[in-house]
Amino acid sequence: MSNCSIVAVIGAPGRSRRLPWTIDIEDLYLKNLLVQGQHDVGEKRVDLEQINCPLLTVAADKDTICPPAAAVAINPLVGSKDEGSRGPWWPRERSRGKQSRQHAVPGPHHLDERENRMNLKELKIVVTGGAQGMGAHFATRLFEAGAQVAVGDVNEEGLKALPKGIHTRRLDVSKEDDIIGFVNWAFDAMGGLNGLINNAGILKDGLLVKKDKTTGQVVKMSLDQFNAVINVNLIGATLMVREVVAKMVEKDQGPGVIVNMSSIARHGNRGQSNYVSAKAALAANTVTWMKEFAPFRIRVGAIAPGMVETPMTKGMNQKALDGFIANIPVGRIGVPEDLWVAVKFVLECDYFNGRTIDVDGGMGF
Ligand SMILES: NC(=O)c1ccc[n+]([C@@H]2O[C@H](COP(=O)([O-])OP(=O)(O)OC[C@H]3O[C@@H](n4cnc5c(N)ncnc54)[C@H](O)[C@@H]3O)[C@@H](O)[C@H]2O)c1
Repeated sequence: MSNCSIVAVIGAPGRSRRLPWTIDIEDLYLKNLLVQGQHDVGEKRVDLEQINCPLLTVAADKDTICPPAAAVAINPLVGSKDEGSRGPWWPRERSRGKQSRQHAVPGPHHLDERENRMNLKELKIVVTGGAQGMGAHFATRLFEAGAQVAVGDVNEEGLKALPKGIHTRRLDVSKEDDIIGFVNWAFDAMGGLNGLINNAGILKDGLLVKKDKTTGQVVKMSLDQFNAVINVNLIGATLMVREVVAKMVEKDQGPGVIVNMSSIARHGNRGQSNYVSAKAALAANTVTWMKEFAPFRIRVGAIAPGMVETPMTKGMNQKALDGFIANIPVGRIGVPEDLWVAVKFVLECDYFNGRTIDVDGGMGF
């Protein structure tokens, strides 16, 4: 077991204290001690979540066993002698088929994991449906964090209200030509493209078949009503992924990241055949696209909100809304910031891929 002479930095950035201890990182990693939160270093007990060091950050790239705070810790020691290479402390490559959780080795397309790490400041990211609601919130948060942001929406008034500096252009995701033109424009406007928040969406709820209470007549959902939602929420979202990824691959923009907005409704919900079809497909294709785009170093994740306070839900019948909220275990409707926390996680965590995160306060339909 090699002994790695790192200098651990304890405490928050800016208030860090250098500790001249030697930590055997390989030992920590192989014995899965990182998950236990604390570890004896020298004669002192150290809270691993407070350790901000290059070796723990790199270790976190290999598996999810590292405490999240350590996994995302910004390394203040860039340039230190331990930062440049994995060094002798890194678990040696095991034969295929015998990889355990602790002994995972990089896949064939992984170069150096630090090359894949996303920093919000480095993002050149498209947000669809960003003129209002969650999309506008995500675009604003990204812009505040230093990202280049290009927002497309059919709502041109909403686009004008976004903070100055965010690139905006009318986009109807139900039109293929619009999407192609928008992606080319966004690439030029931002000087590159490495992210997409695939957020534009509409509702056109209705039962597939119902019987009119007064006349007894059987009423069917029209194909137009079904297709209107599929065209925006599924075909539009799929074409956005296709065009953005094609551009990233053509221009060798990796690492890249895509966040699809699915929904709790993807599991099935009365009155939402069209919406459910689209949101379930988006969650399933998050896995498909993760597999297809991994060779290009593009990750794909999805967020499944429950009930969030946006113009979309403001249009709902108040009684129905109150009924939903009464059944949310956290006791309130979600707000866009709740969802931003999840979006930010997907963007930044380079070990997150192909999964859908439910952010719904614990509610169920
Ligand atoms: N609000 C919720 O409770 C909730 C729950 C689950 C999932 N979602 C999903 O989250 C996403 C954002 O929802 P929201 O609540 O912020 O909705 P919202 O209605 O407030 O915003 C949606 C945005 O999409 C835009 N849009 C609609 N059709 C478009 C098109 N053809 N081309 C481009 N833009 C278009 C709208 O103009 C609007 O700005 C949607 O995909 C929605 O389905 C929302």
